[in-house]
Amino acid sequence: MEYGYFDDRCREYVITNPRTPVKWINYVGTLGFGGLVDHTGGALICAGDPALNRITRYLALLPASEFKGQTLYLRIHKGGGYRVFSPFFVPTLDPYDRFECHVGLGYMRIVSELYGLRTDVTLFVPPGEPRLLQDIRITNIARQPVQVDAVPVVEYTHPDALKQITNADWVPQTMQSKAYAEAHGLLVVAQYPFMLRDVRINYFTSNRPVSSFETDRRRFLGDNEYGTWACPLGLQAAELSSYEALRGDNIAALLHHLGTLAPGEARRLVTQLGQAPSLDAARAGIAAYRDEARVDQALAELAASWERYLSCLQAETPDPAMDRMLNIHNPRQCHTTFHWSRYLSLYQTGYGERGIGFRDSAQDVMGVVASLPEEARRLLQQLLGVQSASGAAMHQFNPLTMEASVGDAAERPDLPQYYSDDHLWIVLAVCAYLKETGDLAFLDQVVPYHERGRDGRPLAIGSVRHHLEAAVEFTRGDVGAHGLPLLGFADWNDTVNLRAGAESLFTAHLYGRALLELADLLRHLGDAGAASKYLAWHDEMKARVNACAWDGAWYVRYFDADGTPLGSRTNAQGQIYANAQSWAVLSGFATPERARLAMDSLYERLNTPCGIKLSTPGFNGFDPARGGITTYPPGAKENGGIFLHANPWAIIAEALLGNGDRAYAYYCQVNPAAKNDRIDTFECEPYVYPQNILGDEHPQFGLARNSWLTGTASWAYQAATQYILGLQPTYAGLRIDPCLPAAWDGFRVRRQFRGAVYEIEVANPQHISYGVVRMRVDGHPVQGNVVPAFGDGAAHHVEVTMGHPA
Ligand code: NOJ
Repeated sequence: MEYGYFDDRCREYVITNPRTPVKWINYVGTLGFGGLVDHTGGALICAGDPALNRITRYLALLPASEFKGQTLYLRIHKGGGYRVFSPFFVPTLDPYDRFECHVGLGYMRIVSELYGLRTDVTLFVPPGEPRLLQDIRITNIARQPVQVDAVPVVEYTHPDALKQITNADWVPQTMQSKAYAEAHGLLVVAQYPFMLRDVRINYFTSNRPVSSFETDRRRFLGDNEYGTWACPLGLQAAELSSYEALRGDNIAALLHHLGTLAPGEARRLVTQLGQAPSLDAARAGIAAYRDEARVDQALAELAASWERYLSCLQAETPDPAMDRMLNIHNPRQCHTTFHWSRYLSLYQTGYGERGIGFRDSAQDVMGVVASLPEEARRLLQQLLGVQSASGAAMHQFNPLTMEASVGDAAERPDLPQYYSDDHLWIVLAVCAYLKETGDLAFLDQVVPYHERGRDGRPLAIGSVRHHLEAAVEFTRGDVGAHGLPLLGFADWNDTVNLRAGAESLFTAHLYGRALLELADLLRHLGDAGAASKYLAWHDEMKARVNACAWDGAWYVRYFDADGTPLGSRTNAQGQIYANAQSWAVLSGFATPERARLAMDSLYERLNTPCGIKLSTPGFNGFDPARGGITTYPPGAKENGGIFLHANPWAIIAEALLGNGDRAYAYYCQVNPAAKNDRIDTFECEPYVYPQNILGDEHPQFGLARNSWLTGTASWAYQAATQYILGLQPTYAGLRIDPCLPAAWDGFRVRRQFRGAVYEIEVANPQHISYGVVRMRVDGHPVQGNVVPAFGDGAAHHVEVTMGHPA
């Protein structure tokens, strides 16, 4: 069963059957104003923070057929009554002749045909604007004239999203709506909780006369809400009651009589759902976006901004499914994770429990440093601001209040209250930013540490370089019995929560990688002394890891507080962990022989046709001494599931070892764009990476969940572009060091880098995986494989030949 197809020319995925196994969504706008829109037109919109300033009431936990946040009803006048239906399929579920949801770059376009009407609706947020537009075109495709009404509806939530759920006493007493009639029959309906009336309002309006409106859900649904969203009784009357809600469940429904449409005749209606400090402050923007030409222009600007974003790298490889991901869907997902961290999706529901994750966003930054360098720098600064003066970092923070917390660790006060990996990611992220942009001045920028005095002022400040050094110093000093980093509450794997005193090999490896990055940076800055100090620290940890963590055919993953290993052949469950092998390569700690053996063990014991499992075998029963991992049945999530975030690390490790065939095979087996024909097993959107897929210990092996907001996006993009295609930003320029499947003849890439455009052609005449023998830039031979950063705004032609050295 297929639910749609990829349209690469339009850079869309087109859903043709709305009964997808779970809701498939897209994002509009940014965290500043925006949210998610599902393929049946439901929308969860917020401004700045989905927990503290949520606008629409989208309850993901309701069944797929239910109204969520907003919809559009059409009404055909028939005899003395009406036929009422939604062109979005949900919530009326009418049989349609045609349904298409075009999942585009920053927009959803739903086209449907039923009862002789074609409706074509594009939902999007114009770049930088605090408004969701709905550009609605309705055409009579029947042979007879038809009289049509259009009723767009939104349902509001209290801005404090959790209070809406938990306090059914206070919330309904405060929610209010007020209508403002304007010239030519136009209408704006404002909505606010009473306490915000004078400082912040939501509004819903359109560019056509409104004959009546409804703001009270009970009246709209009718019969004391025994009327339903599928059949709202309010729409059976000629007009809505035009009642201004003084309390209760607030909606905004605007009834537009579009008149009689002759066969072939069309009408256009544009709605705006926005937020502003006051109606007066909103008026100019409202007027501007009532103009259909301005709406067209906004959509063109949106397309242009995505064109700019994507033009940073466009590839042409022998694999169309890889091109599709690299050129469209993977960078779009990186854009999404960068803007939303792990805050708002159908799985992370944005009620305040997450916010911006320190480690998550640091990794997300790495996926957009090339395409959004200024935004990346701003987010890096924010992250550095929640790093402690000790060098460790807070786990997450709220983007509006900047209030930071220790995350889930707070639920286990018996365990250490920090994550041992968080702060180390910032070293990788800042170095990625510097190598991409060459903006070395950033290192001198002074950023306060997280701690504040009673007066709210920072207790300590330091340059960005100081922050990075503090990060590795913290880990160097925070070690356990084997001299390995202490686990803290957890490392990257949130769910293994061992007793205080446990040690983490993941954190050891991440520390190793951070030290290599720092040493590389300091060498470039000419500080050979500092570089060799960090390399000595690297050697020191490498020796400790190799002395105690080699298990015979792979590296162990943890040592518990009593010194027993986890991720060892001696364990009944959790015998081998993927990250302990891949990161031993990424850190440079594994010796060449051990690296190969470890990665082969990963392949033999953890690889499946649906991706690499995080560990095996899964734990089978809750065990508080192991922690969160044992809350899952075997095969689910971190407990033996295919945790996709960790798959690109295996791709990178194989590429670093020169094994292009395996790196590429690992890439292909998790490429969602290749799952379209297996979608009834996979279930999630085929145009984004999910966070997890059930592993082969689970009866539903292959089932994906938690799509969109996952570190997989950034790392899959890095793995493919920097390690398979091998385009690696370095301080000196763009290194080209591919690791390809031997069957490939080569590939082409157009890559923007530090103010110049590189048209790169890689030829692989000997069909090898690894090794550049020749490079020509603009026709001239160049020594080595690093293209200089020309920064001249011009296009340069780079010819790269792979081959065995003569
Ligand atoms: C999802 C979390 O967002 C991420 O921070 C964590 O590393 C992974 N789960 C693995 O536990």
